[in-house]
Amino acid sequence: MMHLENLRLINFRSYEKFETDFSDKINIITGNNGIGKSSVLEAVHYLSLSKSFRSNRDEEAIHFNSDHFVSKGTFVSDNGVRENISISFSKNGGKAIKSHGKLLENSRDLIGRHPVVLLSPEDIITTIGSPSGQRKFMNMTMSQVNKNHLSRLMSYRGVLKQRNAAINMAASGRESYESTLDALEEQLGELCSSIWEDRVNFINEIIPEFQKIFNDLNEGKKEGNIEYRPSVSGTKNEIMEVLKLRRANDFNMGFTTKGLHRDKLIFKINDRALKKYGSKGENKSFMIALRLTQGKFIEKKTGIKPIYLLDDVFMELDRNRAIETVKYINGIGQVIITTTNYEEWSDKVGFKVNLIGLS
Ligand SMILES: Nc1ncnc2c1ncn2[C@@H]1O[C@H](COP(=O)(O)OP(=O)(O)OP(=O)(O)O)[C@@H](O)[C@H]1O
Ligand SMILES: [Mg+2]
Repeated sequence: MMHLENLRLINFRSYEKFETDFSDKINIITGNNGIGKSSVLEAVHYLSLSKSFRSNRDEEAIHFNSDHFVSKGTFVSDNGVRENISISFSKNGGKAIKSHGKLLENSRDLIGRHPVVLLSPEDIITTIGSPSGQRKFMNMTMSQVNKNHLSRLMSYRGVLKQRNAAINMAASGRESYESTLDALEEQLGELCSSIWEDRVNFINEIIPEFQKIFNDLNEGKKEGNIEYRPSVSGTKNEIMEVLKLRRANDFNMGFTTKGLHRDKLIFKINDRALKKYGSKGENKSFMIALRLTQGKFIEKKTGIKPIYLLDDVFMELDRNRAIETVKYINGIGQVIITTTNYEEWSDKVGFKVNLIGLS
């Protein structure tokens, strides 16, 4: 089973130096607020996806008194092969991703090698509450299982930027940008159409698994559902047509108002929107089910069990849901959980865990 065996940090968040080993099963990081538990998960997230889950600004993770950070980890694959990954970021030199000391050209070379699933308190607000978080959920899942998807997303981002720039030029000047827009919309149409198709398939594929897990976590009393609301859909030509029709509107708005960057997901419990009517605990169990489903999907597609990073997941869960969740995660692969109050539920855990106490 693929797992992270060891982690070493230099000047990462509150750590000048930090090192820990992990077991290939359940690891529990305990300690008081602000001791550095989530930072450990963040560092592991870097090793998998070359970025943080807390911030888009890498410099924020650099220890206050330093100008660079390093996160290094040793992954062990199913057949016992070890891979040393290191991510460093320096204020002057930027980011460097290395495998066995050898520089990787692009984050694309890293993403998907050692997949992770992250569940954090912020996740509930961003993923349930905001379309951009919902798209990130789809993007991060599919990028970890399909390099072409990741490449298409990257291309889309680039072409979209160009169309936005062209729109602003066209809106402000006398020059005609017809042919530029035609060409860009052709590329966008193609990319949108294939990504839309991937997203439809992805959501359809995860719904049954999601419903099963959600049902288990809620003792069969509630039904969860996910609906995909694409901004545009159909063939390349159909999408090009939509973009062309939106030009006048987009000139006014100053950006591209249709496309896969405007897609949404609607999460529902018993057919009502979670965002509007869900309780805190319902939101949490929904997110847990969603992330466990994500993990199962990654495992099914890649044959690799992802590492589950669960930040403070047990807060706000009642006893039954906490127990159901703990039962569920036993055996799914390597899990790293942070918690401030392990004592309160340690007696409910009927199996051995690797306890990492921070102080
Ligand atoms: N760049 C940085 N340099 C130094 N310290 C930092 C940096 N960024 C954050 N910190 C500090 O790191 C500490 C650890 O934060 P972290 O979120 O990992 O704690 P935690 O154990 O998860 O806490 P909680 O239980 O409240 O979630 C915090 O006190 C924070 O102020
Ligand atoms: Mg924390």
